Amino acid sequence: MKGEVPVPSRDSGNNSWWRQGVIYQVYPRSFQDTNADGIGDLEGIRRRLDHLVSLDVDAIWISPIYSSPMADFGYDVSDHRAIDPIFGTMEDFDRLLDETHRKGLKVILDYVPNHTSDQHPWFIESRASRRNSKRDWYVWRDARADGGPPNNWASEFGGSAWTFDEATGQFYYHAYLAEQPDLNWRNPEVVAAMLDVLRFWFDRGVDGFRVDAIHHLFEDEQLRDDPVNPDWQEGLSPNQRLLRVNSMDQPEVHGAIALMRGVATSYANERLLIGEAYLPIARLMAYYGIALSGFHLPFNFHLISTPWQPKAIAALIDEYEAALPPGGWPNWVLGNHDRSRVATRLGPAQARIAAMLLLTLRGTPTLYQGDEIGMVDVPIPRHRIRDPFATNAPTFGRDPERTPMQWDASPRAGFSPVEPWLPMAADFKRHNAASQFADPRSMLSLYRALIALRHKEAALTLGTYALVQASENVLAYERRHGERRLLIALNFGEGFEELESLSPPAKLLLSTDPTREKEDFARAPKLNPNEGIVAELTPPNRVGR
Ligand code: GLC
Repeated sequence: MKGEVPVPSRDSGNNSWWRQGVIYQVYPRSFQDTNADGIGDLEGIRRRLDHLVSLDVDAIWISPIYSSPMADFGYDVSDHRAIDPIFGTMEDFDRLLDETHRKGLKVILDYVPNHTSDQHPWFIESRASRRNSKRDWYVWRDARADGGPPNNWASEFGGSAWTFDEATGQFYYHAYLAEQPDLNWRNPEVVAAMLDVLRFWFDRGVDGFRVDAIHHLFEDEQLRDDPVNPDWQEGLSPNQRLLRVNSMDQPEVHGAIALMRGVATSYANERLLIGEAYLPIARLMAYYGIALSGFHLPFNFHLISTPWQPKAIAALIDEYEAALPPGGWPNWVLGNHDRSRVATRLGPAQARIAAMLLLTLRGTPTLYQGDEIGMVDVPIPRHRIRDPFATNAPTFGRDPERTPMQWDASPRAGFSPVEPWLPMAADFKRHNAASQFADPRSMLSLYRALIALRHKEAALTLGTYALVQASENVLAYERRHGERRLLIALNFGEGFEELESLSPPAKLLLSTDPTREKEDFARAPKLNPNEGIVAELTPPNRVGR
């Protein structure tokens, strides 16, 4: 059984906080503004900590807060060791870290190793001349004979991944914007400098990092073209036109990750490393590293892209569970600042089912801010578009899922005293954290109940997973820890559903349907339309298959 496989020595086994904890992503620009510039800040996160305490999450991951020209809203770092004034000061950071810790939560920062800002002093030096000592810190290549870029590699945001530098007559490579030149991780000085960045923040007391765009860290040294994707068609994102077999997910990446892990492991309190890599399951597994020398948690984004059908989700869970390396801990994600919100993708009724799924699966869940109150993508009028991705691919812009948190019914939802950087949702007066806090039927109350149950029931964190039913409309599975057995049954459909195989007695612990009374099931229960339940199976060994 997977849970019984030994884990590396520095890691405190199944009791480590990140195995049993829930992670919450804060997108700082949109969490809480306290200095009246329409953009969220560190002091805002500090003042809203009680929301996270009442939700009872275990850790916050904060998207980048470092000095940045903000071409990609902080994912273009110009000083890894300084706080951008938009977000506050280092004193603000230390205060936030301290107070978050005192409230019992961990703090995870974002680490952006693949690229820097073009305004980073390293790149300014690198582009100064071909002979500069930092020239090789980035990926510079000569033009092809015809003067064109070195190969066909494409930026994630559309267009060529190469930009010509007039002054020095070479192209530099950027997996994302031209303002985000890629670092050359084949240069040992780059490796040393970037590992030092980890130490800087670990020494300050941060508990871990979410490592950005890790699959882009290395590209084929011979610069071989990426093949054209034969399945690409109009309507798909421009970044899917090519199959990135040469421009990403190269074998060298695992050595670099092992070095990052080495730094994390050298600290007395285990520090967590989460990797961001959008890859098929089989490729993703390599990011746990040989003998788990890689990420503790390579982010698993497959719930975002898998069709929302019980059979497809059951197959995904089986494939993922079966692919995990021995001792590798699973994790699940429903949304983030780069993807359309779950309540928009699935609709409000199924977003409740998705919440129950996320918080009852085996593996660490990560929530995206606002999903706990069922926020939806906000339509962005043309003149308010901010995301550079939207310039090349308007329908793929990420602004709709980045709009400010809806705290209460006061002007601008309590987010800011001035017009925010992105528009507020039109319905924030009805739809906000304060009104939901008081309403037992709300999404927020459901999230709080689910997280409370997850913290109470070892079966939900440490327990095994077994599929019970995957039919047209119902996904049901059992989580078991010792004698404790919980059944989770989710109705993906609009009609009533019978559970195929549940023999009584079972006791209802939680339902997503606020109209359902707490009751003992005298017989196999019917699920209401769009209802999910967690039920206790007692006594053990009475459930048929
Ligand atoms: C990651 C971030 C995304 C950013 C990109 C480039 O995918 O989540 O927001 O644009 O990396 O850093």
